[in-house]
Amino acid sequence: MKFFVDTGDFKEIEELSDTGLLDGVTTNPSLVAKSGRDFKELIADICKVVAGPVSAEVAATDFDGMMREGERLAKIADNVVVKVPLTLDGLKACRHLSSAGIPVNVTLCFSPNQALLAAKVGAAYISPFIGRLDDINLEGMELIQHIRTIYDNYAFSTEILAASIRSPNHVTQAALAGADVATIPPAVIRKLADHPLTTVGLANFVKDWKATGQSIL
Ligand code: E4P
Repeated sequence: MKFFVDTGDFKEIEELSDTGLLDGVTTNPSLVAKSGRDFKELIADICKVVAGPVSAEVAATDFDGMMREGERLAKIADNVVVKVPLTLDGLKACRHLSSAGIPVNVTLCFSPNQALLAAKVGAAYISPFIGRLDDINLEGMELIQHIRTIYDNYAFSTEILAASIRSPNHVTQAALAGADVATIPPAVIRKLADHPLTTVGLANFVKDWKATGQSIL
């Protein structure tokens, strides 16, 4: 499973990129607002440190506006993926941008039918929002499972990008359900490496090694 980081925080992106764990980045208008940065400059900076796909979302909600913004965003760097909302106008923009060779991430997906439509218009990625479904007492992970089945039934190449991930458990469940990608907040990515038995085990190894008085170098 590929890992994207879901943030507009450039410092976090730089740090996580150095770990070698990052395959891409997703942003959204709320994350950009939180960063306080100029949107296009931020995306250009991210694309300089991350070679993989970097999702940049349109702000317009009508087809013409989404097309103009999508074409502008795609010019920032070769690895920009234009993000559009899952509306009829967004799907139409997805079809046109994809046909012009611009990869599209269709976002705000909350149902299997929405995901089916996105695949039909050639989306490179579909973003089902797990956490926001869990927030309203629905099963976010079930959506990933259903989309996986539908896409496999028809051999759609659209990648399932599990989004709105809130916990390490979400990452495990999305991987088990066959999501192609998980876009994960920085704090959750850092938690994935933690295990109390690793911490205790390492402390013991360090203590016992010190007692040998040896040096490897
Ligand atoms: C995905 O592309 C979105 O940016 C993101 O995952 C939304 O997550 P949230 O529901 O925690 O805001």
